[in-house]
Amino acid sequence: MNRSAVWHPFTQHAVEPTMPSIARTGGAYLETADGRRILDAISSWWVVTHGHRHPKIMDAIRNATETLDQVIFAGLTHEPAEQLASALVEMTPASLDWVFYSDSGSTSVEVALKMALGYFRNIGAPRSRIVVMESSYHGDTIGAMSVGARGVFNAAYEPLLFEVDTIPFPAAGREQETLDRFEAVSRDRGVAALIVEPLVLGAGGMLMYPAWILAELKKIAEASGTLFIADEVMTGWGRTGTMFACEQAGISTD
Ligand SMILES: Cc1ncc(COP(=O)(O)O)c(C=O)c1O
Repeated sequence: MNRSAVWHPFTQHAVEPTMPSIARTGGAYLETADGRRILDAISSWWVVTHGHRHPKIMDAIRNATETLDQVIFAGLTHEPAEQLASALVEMTPASLDWVFYSDSGSTSVEVALKMALGYFRNIGAPRSRIVVMESSYHGDTIGAMSVGARGVFNAAYEPLLFEVDTIPFPAAGREQETLDRFEAVSRDRGVAALIVEPLVLGAGGMLMYPAWILAELKKIAEASGTLFIADEVMTGWGRTGTMFACEQAGISTD
């Protein structure tokens, strides 16, 4: 095979050996062209929650392509989008009754941040500061990198990243520091939103913290009118035992 023209994410091509080529997928496994089976223990980066090529999902994709492909979504809608949105509203807390479709984890974070700033502008009381948790990861677009931990993967883009306020990770025995810091930064009412990975910081090293901290953070956010954004890209869809991690704290995001 000629040298590959593909530039892979999170890969240093100067040192990476030739990559295995995946010829087939099924259930929890990836299968290489030469027949080796690889257990996909991170569900292809959290995405394939139901296993590879689940028959129901494959059927739904096949059926959808019989009648629809890309449809402009500004000013038009279609039945599958309406059905999915209704189902999502049904399964999320009562206060969440709108769905905005995005195309990746990073862009959904961008949209959430834009919604937060847009909200405060629209009510005539602009706020623009964002509070983040130490060691978080929210994606690789400029806004998503800005609200994530700074390090080797985003150092080159530092001049473009916006400033945020950071609260410490609530490590066991140091939880109060996290809550005190959030209370202090939100006191002046200039904070638009707090964004967190609820219960587990995935890419940051599977750092876990208990549900009661989420509930306390939400209380502080409510007291200062700060919006609460939960990035459930990694924790959603049952990964922490409940459909969404926030359910364990008995809270709803904004
Ligand atoms: C918590 C979290 N947020 C956002 C993202 C970014 O998602 P995407 O790679 O789809 O842009 C990830 C990706 O791993 C993630 O774990």
